Amino acid sequence: MKKIIVFGSNILDMFFEVPDFGFFSQSGAGAEDAMHFKTHKQAPGGKGANQAVAAAKAGAKVKFYGALGKGAHARFILDNFKAHKIDTKGIIQTDEPTGCAAIFTKPDGKHKIIVSQGANGLARADQIPDAQLNPNTILLLQAEMNATENQKLMQRGKAAGATIVLNVAPAKPMSAKTLACVDYLIVNEPEAEALAKNLNLPTDNLQSAAQTIAKKFNLMCIVTLGEKGSLAYNATMPEPLHVPALSIKVKDTVGAGDAFAGAFAAALAKDLPAELALRHAAVAGSLACRKFGAQTALPTEAEIAAALPKLKVLSPVKSAARALSRPLSKLTR
Ligand code: RIB
Repeated sequence: MKKIIVFGSNILDMFFEVPDFGFFSQSGAGAEDAMHFKTHKQAPGGKGANQAVAAAKAGAKVKFYGALGKGAHARFILDNFKAHKIDTKGIIQTDEPTGCAAIFTKPDGKHKIIVSQGANGLARADQIPDAQLNPNTILLLQAEMNATENQKLMQRGKAAGATIVLNVAPAKPMSAKTLACVDYLIVNEPEAEALAKNLNLPTDNLQSAAQTIAKKFNLMCIVTLGEKGSLAYNATMPEPLHVPALSIKVKDTVGAGDAFAGAFAAALAKDLPAELALRHAAVAGSLACRKFGAQTALPTEAEIAAALPKLKVLSPVKSAARALSRPLSKLTR
């Protein structure tokens, strides 16, 4: 089995349940300037950490590189990594506070997040020794880290023959130099749109943008579509591969994309072909919506294996054609 190296963010997530998001748009007479809650929940989060735990729970060997503060939040996060058997020796502890987030969730599972990156901004690519980067490495990155550090690490990884999986979340512009290093690019719809805009590709036709990115940078471009599953494009496939999602009752979608990316990397680490890895990812992303929180909702390897047979096998050409009969932007709304 290959090992997974995650260079990523750690955030302490604080969850607040709200009936709706009206508070955020209040203004003028009678508008409140504070919202009070009886209680809240606290859980380890951050896209990097979530993906590392998702991959570890899916059965992969994971080493994590990133940055924390020095207080109780950092200890809480380190203990959580250790509980999931993730190697934390490459994490630095700094005088900046550990990153934190306020996450507001609605009864329908939708959410809004406010993130302070804190110590994450101090993580550096050179924390990862050259010896860790080789053809036996899957390098898993997200856009919550410093773009220059991500870029440096991807270039080193590429030169060393590692497989590079980049989840451009949250939506950020990516340079051509960065994309040239990537083997698997994972984006959701708004992230695909931001990327297309940044590369001067049409945003009214995201499927053609995804196809162009796949061809131009010789990578697999995977666009996640929530309950509609995902579409994967590469330079040689005449039609995109459409993998559906599981049909489940959604409690909370926080971290579903991280579950998808982590399980995808774990399946690649087990040398599964990308087509099958996408199915593992789809199952993990769906199962992660059943419970509250990001890491608290991640499925185990056994849960993924048990649910895999329930995932429909679509006829690639027919299903992609169905999905593509409307622009991507209409699929999830
Ligand atoms: O992807 C979900 C994550 O985004 C949350 O855990 C939160 O920390 C934010 O970074």
